[in-house]
Amino acid sequence: MNKNTSRIILAIESTCDETSACIFCDNILSHTIFTSYKCQANYGGVVPELAARYHLLFIHDAVEKALKMAEIKYEQLTNIVYSAEPGLPGSVMVGKVFSHQLGGVLQIPVLGLNHLYGHLFSGWINKTPKYPFIGLVVSGGETCIYLVNSPIDIQKLNDTGDDAVGEVFDKIARRLGYDYPGGPKIDKNFDINKANIQFINSDAAYHRFSFSGLKTAIINYIYQKEIHHEQIDVVAIGSSFQKFAINEIIKKLKYYMTEYNINIVAVGGGVAANSYLKQELEKLNVEIHLVERKYAGDNAAMIAYYGDLVLKYKKIE
Ligand code: KG4
Repeated sequence: MNKNTSRIILAIESTCDETSACIFCDNILSHTIFTSYKCQANYGGVVPELAARYHLLFIHDAVEKALKMAEIKYEQLTNIVYSAEPGLPGSVMVGKVFSHQLGGVLQIPVLGLNHLYGHLFSGWINKTPKYPFIGLVVSGGETCIYLVNSPIDIQKLNDTGDDAVGEVFDKIARRLGYDYPGGPKIDKNFDINKANIQFINSDAAYHRFSFSGLKTAIINYIYQKEIHHEQIDVVAIGSSFQKFAINEIIKKLKYYMTEYNINIVAVGGGVAANSYLKQELEKLNVEIHLVERKYAGDNAAMIAYYGDLVLKYKKIE
């Protein structure tokens, strides 16, 4: 890295409840994440207004700390990139206004990026992407499969018609008595030997993702147990849900890999940390670029990395 000649990017992420900043110069130099999730836990999910207010509280410190860790001064920054969509409107606005104001003061270019494309490329962080690849994004807000030909030639092949997989993990976890975010808790207690409750039938591989029917079936299942005063096996329910939901994802992934004859897969998003997903991806026996756990949730490092790819590809200074 040459801090005198290379592009020095500040990236900002603020689409949900994480306020994150990253300084990137050929590599990730520093990365900070502040989160309001503990304050959201009391409500069982993210309260948009609260999240936006916490971004306002955190954003300055997140950036200052990232600059300090990277030993970079504001004047050395050459570009700012930020997550511009999709996200909670108030939260996105904080990152957007901060980025544009700072860019205006420093008189450097500011580029708004699609947050999901950050997740989409996050499995390639510290590597060079190979094209074309099939991308899977599984997060609290999205469940998408993409065909990726370049940093800007991205075709969505499938997404969810209703709830995102992470959102359903959290909602079912809440019903089972786990704190928010419950996805990791269902995973931690996952027992394949108990994952044999069939709530609904599996969907055709080429259909859109749909998780709300599964969610309703599980909530009804628990309700029926409660009104009949039957024992509720939290591990069996959580494990059966996890196995079914992940198998649906793997099935669709396989379908598109065959359809486009592509054996390179990149996986990003919070649910990429799921142990059963990892295990089933390995079984596919293809080239998998799974995001590192520290970049799986919402973070500015993936926005910086993707921003750098876009700027290089478009040859923007
Ligand atoms: O990418 P991310 O921060 O999502 C958005 O904010 O959109 O990921 C958070 C989501 C949450 O729904 C969380 O429950 C889920 O990722 N998650 C997991 C695991 N770790 C995080 N879900 C299943 N298994 C996990 N190990």
